[in-house]
Amino acid sequence: MAQLEANELAQAVIDRMAQCSDPRLRQVMSSLVTHAHSFVQEVQLTGDEWMKAIGFLTATGRKCDDKRQEFILLSDTLGISMLVVAIEQAKGLAPRPDAEAATPATEATVQGPFFWEGAPEVPLGSDLAGDAPGEPAYYRGCVTDIHGKPVPGCAIEVWSGDGNGNYDMQRGEDAKMMLRARLRTDEDGRYHFWSIRPTYYPVPDDGPVGGMLRAMGRHPNRPGHIHMMLKAPGHRPLTTHLFVGDSPFLDSDAVFGVRNSLVVNFDKHPAGTASDGRVLDRPYYTARYDFRLVPDV
Ligand code: BEZ
Ligand code: FE
Repeated sequence: MAQLEANELAQAVIDRMAQCSDPRLRQVMSSLVTHAHSFVQEVQLTGDEWMKAIGFLTATGRKCDDKRQEFILLSDTLGISMLVVAIEQAKGLAPRPDAEAATPATEATVQGPFFWEGAPEVPLGSDLAGDAPGEPAYYRGCVTDIHGKPVPGCAIEVWSGDGNGNYDMQRGEDAKMMLRARLRTDEDGRYHFWSIRPTYYPVPDDGPVGGMLRAMGRHPNRPGHIHMMLKAPGHRPLTTHLFVGDSPFLDSDAVFGVRNSLVVNFDKHPAGTASDGRVLDRPYYTARYDFRLVPDV
């Protein structure tokens, strides 16, 4: 029987996949095995360290349930979620014959764990805040394609934490939806709604990933942001955020999701009548952002 040397093991694993009938799986697994073996060689991983890593992954799995996905958090905090988003978006933006006529599409970013399917559809102009803590903010803008053509009837799903940085889903078993809704752009592709000005907050850090961040000397915070998911027939769906322009942690987002093009000024106004006629007895903010979708050709 031929004995394998350390530097032959990766190729031996790959050779055992000769009968694998899925070429993409063969490609992905071959590359994974190659990189994993070089990593172990490069850092000269010890047996104790490998057992510690297996313990960490086991704890990560145990922390998952139908509300908590610790593996996604691991992917997020290692920058892999954002890398996958960037690769997907680059594919959607591959050069087209009419590329010169187009303006850049709105950049995507991570979805995060706090999307909750089934948010109520509300009319344009609604206030999503209810009695949630936070400073009022009026959001408005339009949705066009990359050629500037308005996209009417685009579904915009919005969700954010409250003014203390907590999402409704983090309020325990009986949590009710809060600060989330679905709107539709009008016939000119315009949208507008009230919510709060989001604040920075930590990603869930009471599990193994939080421990990893502390061991790495990293903080768990994300800059203030509001999530938006846009869907319109004939266009590629977009999952993105708007980031609050003067928020702490814009330069060190725990999940590496910040794109400069998504950072928005939140202008402060004294109490009074806002541009939509709403009368406010306390200061409020306005934020404007125009989204550009890529046609799905
Ligand atoms: C969030 O933005 O909600 C989020 C994203 C990634 C990890 C944790 C939270
Ligand atoms: Fe978030």
